[in-house]
Amino acid sequence: MKKVIILGSTNVDTILNVQRFPQPGETMAMNSMAVAGGGKGANQAIAAVRSGAETTFISKVGHEGAANFMLDTFKEDGMNIDHVTTSETAGTGQAYIMVDENGQNSILIYGGANQDITNEDIQAAKGSIKAADRIVAQFEVPIPSVIEAFKIARENDVQTILNPAPAIKNIPDDLLSVTDMIVPNETESEIITGIKVTDEASMEASAKEFFKMGVKAVIITVGDRGSFYATSEQSGFVNAFKVKAADTTAAGDTFIGALSSKLELDYSNLEEAMTYANKASSLAVQIKGAQNSIPYAKDILAD
Ligand code: RIB
Repeated sequence: MKKVIILGSTNVDTILNVQRFPQPGETMAMNSMAVAGGGKGANQAIAAVRSGAETTFISKVGHEGAANFMLDTFKEDGMNIDHVTTSETAGTGQAYIMVDENGQNSILIYGGANQDITNEDIQAAKGSIKAADRIVAQFEVPIPSVIEAFKIARENDVQTILNPAPAIKNIPDDLLSVTDMIVPNETESEIITGIKVTDEASMEASAKEFFKMGVKAVIITVGDRGSFYATSEQSGFVNAFKVKAADTTAAGDTFIGALSSKLELDYSNLEEAMTYANKASSLAVQIKGAQNSIPYAKDILAD
């Protein structure tokens, strides 16, 4: 069983189901709305723990208790939340997610307590980071905290996986220099490398750019097509499973969390772990919402 640390956001998602996205200046009725647990970090942590990883989550929630229902889910799933702390000043992060009738989404984020994660919080989790096999982080928490965590990981031979979402154009060199694997989607990849991801040749070219930045392994996810991988020894494409999407929210998070639970540290089972992660996200997109849609290992293996 892999020991996985996820450093990342906890959000309350307000999901607005619409027929189509409104035009600027347009007022439109929505089909339905719902509130559910979300946040890229929390979603990835749930995907990892439900796939059997011994998972520790580092995050921050608001003092108003809006995240309590999520903390209960984390505990029920057996996640270690000793390093999910409470902000004295900010409320729990929020996401407003429009989902259209094709299952595509558009998301607005209020960072809230997620933005209060400090390097002191990371230092407090140092023992857990040192004891892990790998750490995974995204960009919904302050970048200095990700750098601090990845530096501790690198000093202790703990593998680091960066999901650069939401994308930023210039990722600091001192973060890239301590990143083992990067997992962007096609849009994030283009923002970071400047190369438009269309076919496998453009994915190869993008991977080369990431290698130049100092990263050792790359996975570029391309939605319902699947995902491309490249290391110094191997590269290839793993097809997605064809399903009808009801809501693609957290599809990428499910992929990364499931992958982090299965991937060997030497990448020797990369294709197998990606196939497993693709299965997990193909199950997630068939159900509306983020955390409620994330499957357990038994469902993924039975599918
Ligand atoms: O990746 C999906 C997640 O992005 C949502 O759950 C939302 O909270 C935002 O963080």
